[in-house]
Amino acid sequence: MKKSLMAATVIATGTLLGAAGTANAAELNLICSADVVICELLVETFEANHDIDVSMVRLSSGEAYAKLRAEARNPKTDIWWGGTGDPHLQAATDGLTMEYKSPMLAELHPWAVKQAESSGYKTVGVYSGALGWGYNTDILKKKGAKAPKCWADLLDPALKGEIQVANPNSSGTAYTALATLVQLMGEDEAFAYLKKLNDNVAQYTKSGSAPVKAAARGETGVGIVFMHDAVSQAVEGFPVAVVAPCEGTGYEIGSMSIVNRARNADEAKVWYDWVLKPETQSLLKDAKSFQLPSNKNAAVPKEAPNLDEVKLIDYDFATYGSTERRRALLERWDREIGAIAN
Ligand code: G6P
Repeated sequence: MKKSLMAATVIATGTLLGAAGTANAAELNLICSADVVICELLVETFEANHDIDVSMVRLSSGEAYAKLRAEARNPKTDIWWGGTGDPHLQAATDGLTMEYKSPMLAELHPWAVKQAESSGYKTVGVYSGALGWGYNTDILKKKGAKAPKCWADLLDPALKGEIQVANPNSSGTAYTALATLVQLMGEDEAFAYLKKLNDNVAQYTKSGSAPVKAAARGETGVGIVFMHDAVSQAVEGFPVAVVAPCEGTGYEIGSMSIVNRARNADEAKVWYDWVLKPETQSLLKDAKSFQLPSNKNAAVPKEAPNLDEVKLIDYDFATYGSTERRRALLERWDREIGAIAN
């Protein structure tokens, strides 16, 4: 009895002290959907320059969207930074995010502003990057597989069990791959392709960049990912070659959105304006994240894939970021691919 009373006192004191310790610090609850290294560097730098405590969780893009949906009646998240644009657009359509016109919009590239305009200013572009893959040159040599340069080459039987790609329900990268193939080939052809590809796929991961991290470490031959994620592994010294598919490929407009009725909406706007500054966006390269930043004055990492040299499709963000299209494609993926996945 006495013991539990004491414990209760300690807990109460602890709570009081905890509260007093952070009495004046404002709070911000952030979902970060890019690589955890850039997420942590942004949080650390932001906290060093503002009297705001950030509580950050790293979630893949599809998971982040699902969390905002689940929290819709009682939002716990204030702001969502990074991750592919399609689920951000879907969140905007679903009324999960709020309109905000940052004074920084004037400094952004047209593709980032277009993302804002098309969502009624409920999201904005923060970076961009093209889809492709990275392959482990040692593994493919050992397997006697020829270097895959085109989507068609990924069906080579020599690559059986040697490909990883994420699950498009959780991962924005994998959804970009799905939407890209549909736009390149037509929907039925794309699903026929994905069924054949499934013969070579060893694993559908949760996070989008995991496949190329596995390829870098020799756990798989090929990882279908954003090209900049493959570059990060090559820069680390792993035997990874980066490919822009010969038939053409899609790209992401990594985005940011403030949650509708966020409890800390003012703090969210402070983050929003700060993260769009050129100095902040230049942190991407310090974290070995090689996307193209959306602020025209931010430093473009020399390692970033040059999109002028990539055959990009005219990715239809409005259609593939719409609730109806995204939901329908994911349902079909579950029925036809998820059901036969290993
Ligand atoms: C990596 C990339 C980002 C991309 C993100 C999407 O972190 O560097 O450019 O936005 O993946 O993550 P997801 O897990 O949703 O595919």
